[in-house]
Order: sequence, then structure tokens, then C-alpha cells
Amino acid sequence: MTAALIGLLGTAYLWVKAGHVIFVIFWMAGLFMLPRFFVYHQESAPGSAEEALWVEREQRLLRIILKPSIAIVWIFGLALALDTGAFAQGWFHLKFAVVLGLSAYHGWMVGYARKLQAGERRLSGRALRLVNEVPGLAAVIIVILAIIKPF
Ligand code: HEM
Repeated sequence: MTAALIGLLGTAYLWVKAGHVIFVIFWMAGLFMLPRFFVYHQESAPGSAEEALWVEREQRLLRIILKPSIAIVWIFGLALALDTGAFAQGWFHLKFAVVLGLSAYHGWMVGYARKLQAGERRLSGRALRLVNEVPGLAAVIIVILAIIKPF
């Protein structure tokens, strides 16, 4: 089935790839910002006006940047994969696994934002700063796989 889709994008391929990378940048920016917001959020007094402001900022970041970006990165990425037959290539298997992990991290952050909104502060500021290394590490691996294609 996928073989029939190879080359289907034609001359639009490079435009889809450009769109893919642009929304990867937006997604990554959001992934870096949200845990920073959590750190500042947790430094505000519970129930304060400042806390309510952080909840609003977190929700806005999720709604305007993170949710549309992850959707578009996935749609364009899958279109590229079907167009190039990447599902049969070794580098792509690992990239796919790391991207699934990054998407799970995104989902975990959505959950943490909900818990914070309900007044639960489960992690320390230090732990949140440590967790914030995840997207950077994932980006290094994914970009090397996508560009060098070592296997
Ligand atoms: C969400 C699922 C994703 C899928 C299905 C996907 C799939 C793909 C595919 C098939 C290509 C074309 C590679 C080629 O043959 O040239 C591509 C290009 C690329 N992707 Fe992704 N990708 C995804 C997410 C990401 C993420 C999260 C990043 C970075 C953090 C990323 C970075 C790149 C880069 C830099 C290129 C350009 C590579 C080049 O043309 O030299 N992708 N992606």
C-alpha cells in the first residue's frame, strides 16, 4: 500500500519538508518553554493572582503553540515518510521511536499542567529543570538521524 504512495507529493515535497521543519521549530520552542513556566508557576503562592496568571499562560502556550505544532509536525512528517518510503529505512525506525518518546513527553506535560491547575505540585523546581533536558537531547538524536541517516 505504501509503495503506491512513493513520490506522490511530486514538486510539493520540498514545501512539505520546509513546513515540517518550521513546525518542528515551533513545537520544540513550546516544549522548552512550558517546563520553565511550570518552574515560575510553582514559585508563586498557591491560590494567588500570580498563580492564576501562570495557569492562563500555560493554557495559552498549549492551545496556540504546542497543540497545533505537534499535529502539523506529525501530518507533514508522515506525508514525507510515505512519499520517500522511509518506513523501510533503518534510520527512520529509530527516529520514529524517539519522536514517539518526545510525543509521550508532550502528553506528560499536558497532564502536569492539569495537575498544577488543580493545585498539585508534584515535582521540585530542580526536577523540572532536569526534565527540561529531554527535548534538547531528543532533538540532537532526531536531527542527526534525519540528516546523516547513519544506517
Ligand atoms: C512527528 C513525527 C515525524 C515524522 C513522521 C518525521 C518524518 C520525516 C521524514 C520522512 C523526513 C524526510 C527525510 C528525508 O528522506 O530526507 C523528515 C525530515 C526532517 N525531519 Fe522529521 N519527522 C518527524 C518529527 C521530527 C522532529 C520532532 C524533528 C526534530 C526535532 C524532525 C526533524 C527533521 C529534519 C531536520 C528533517 C530534514 C532532513 C533533511 O532533509 O535533510 N522531524 N522527517
